Amino acid sequence: MENSLIIALDFADSQSVFEFLKPFGNQKLFLKVGMELYYKEGPAILHRLKEDGHGIFLDLKLHDIPNTVKSAMKILAGYECDLVNVHAAGGTDMMIAALEGLEAGTRPGFKRPDCIAVTQLTSTSEAQMQTEQHIPGSLLKSVLNYASLAKSAGLDGVVCSAWEAGAIRDKLGSAFNTVTPGIRMDTDHIQDQKRVATPEFARSAGVSAIVVGRSITRSTDPLNSYLNWMEAWKGASV
Ligand code: C5P
Repeated sequence: MENSLIIALDFADSQSVFEFLKPFGNQKLFLKVGMELYYKEGPAILHRLKEDGHGIFLDLKLHDIPNTVKSAMKILAGYECDLVNVHAAGGTDMMIAALEGLEAGTRPGFKRPDCIAVTQLTSTSEAQMQTEQHIPGSLLKSVLNYASLAKSAGLDGVVCSAWEAGAIRDKLGSAFNTVTPGIRMDTDHIQDQKRVATPEFARSAGVSAIVVGRSITRSTDPLNSYLNWMEAWKGASV
């Protein structure tokens, strides 16, 4: 996932997805399938995207008791996506169980999917965290706490905002991945996100991969928009 730009396929059905992908031709992309698309289309959408050679982040954010997460991850491993995730708030035992499930469901000789943990959603503000989740202190402190738990459990990284990525790298090392949604160009609408950052800022913070949704998927010219985003993210013409 290092240096990837992951496009969030937040579409209602596979027809809209393949309509969106048409202008990209044979280009191999890193695509995120989230709840909406997966609940509508099921594993079939993953098989089709894999057949076309794309990398896949299956973003279902599992959060349940360890045994349930372990069984679910065993099934998800069989879909052979590159990346899956859980909520770190589910706790250390749940994260360890997620990895056990993934190992158990991975074909012998194949690499298990990477597994990362959501820390605090990028749509959560510090005030909201303090008043609604009753977590005192700064949002950064909470994100660092969840990231440390995820690393101790053996996970491959976290989902966080670009604003916390530098501190996570400093504390947990650059091999521990930071995947950051909430990325916007200066001219973009923020929509429901709160902790947003530009692709240039994400790059300077040492983020491993950015997730970009509506800025590309709702563009009138998605291919051109993707290329502009890649240029901003990679810092050179692509
Ligand atoms: O459209 P936008 O760029 O805001 O899309 C961000 C994507 O990243 C969405 O699919 C959302 O579900 C996902 N995401 C997020 N914040 C997290 C984890 C995932 O926005 N902490």
